Amino acid sequence: MIILGIESSCDETSAAVFETDSGLLSNVVASQTIHEKFGGVVPELASRAHQATIVATVSQALEEAHIDRSQIDHIAVTQGPGLIGALLVGVSFARGLALQLGCSIRGINHVDAHLFASFLEEQHPAFPFLGLVVSGGHTQIMKVTAADRLFVLGKTRDDAAGEAFDKIGKMLGLAYPAGKRMDELAIDANPDFYHFPRSMLKQGLDFSFSGLKTAVLYYLQSQEESFVEQHKSDIIASVIAAITDVLVAKLDSAFLQTGIVDWVVAGGVSANSVLRTKLEEKAKQRGARLFIPRPAFCTDNAAMIAAYASLLPVAKYSHSLKPFASYASSQQGS
Ligand code: KG4
Ligand code: ZN
Repeated sequence: MIILGIESSCDETSAAVFETDSGLLSNVVASQTIHEKFGGVVPELASRAHQATIVATVSQALEEAHIDRSQIDHIAVTQGPGLIGALLVGVSFARGLALQLGCSIRGINHVDAHLFASFLEEQHPAFPFLGLVVSGGHTQIMKVTAADRLFVLGKTRDDAAGEAFDKIGKMLGLAYPAGKRMDELAIDANPDFYHFPRSMLKQGLDFSFSGLKTAVLYYLQSQEESFVEQHKSDIIASVIAAITDVLVAKLDSAFLQTGIVDWVVAGGVSANSVLRTKLEEKAKQRGARLFIPRPAFCTDNAAMIAAYASLLPVAKYSHSLKPFASYASSQQGS
């Protein structure tokens, strides 16, 4: 079966072709740069950019896969969560194409799909596994017992981990999105330079990052500008230490509660080098297997949408497919 995956939930327009026997044939990602000067994603601009790019992105994905669109058997499109206008572009395009081709279509939950990016790699997890999604919009821990059985164990009560990176990066004068740059600046810097709070460390599996953001703001306001400039890398390393300590501790708590030894970590923040090192150490200590997709599959992409769809039952074409803005899935439970 040939599956066309389409992703347009935030600021990446992406299309991928996945063949159930041979795997991924193409994955094209068009990142929107227009938001950089605003320090964050501007929803209306994102929708317009998706609209301008989606036809060319899908065409390129088909071309790179050497597939004619008449060969598409199934379309998998990100249905939510995400920016509603941005999602509408992908969903409307997918519905139109499915109608024209007479093929089946399925809406895919973006956050759940992040975890199934791990199935694009040769070594992938077995069910049940624990999933930690850490992206710009979401931070949540899930127990996954089957492709269509995901149970949310904990999630952020305010900012997502990536959002904390981006907002703190902005305070330090870094361009959006700041996560990758902060990671680079922190190499060889001192993570113990300043002790920022580790919020809700011992309180269940939910997260909170807004307190850290405020703590960093107050800290920066209390220091001379020249001091901050001089110690920028050490401050960043200290922030990264606080964020990653919490992420690792929560995943470890989920392990202690469930005993599940296959761990999947995905989403843009899972590209962070400090997080990867700490997770590897923790997994080793617990005898767990850690699966982190390669960086290109950690950030938003349509390959994960198509790969996840290949594990789910094929739905019939539905005129009623509508995007949803916040995490809500028939697959989640308690
Ligand atoms: O998964 P993603 O591409 O998009 C969303 O679904 O949100 O994640 C983007 C987020 C941004 O907040 C970005 O700053 C963060 O991932 N990010 C990183 C790194 N690379 C990307 N954060 C920390 N360290 C990195 N190396
Ligand atoms: Zn994402």
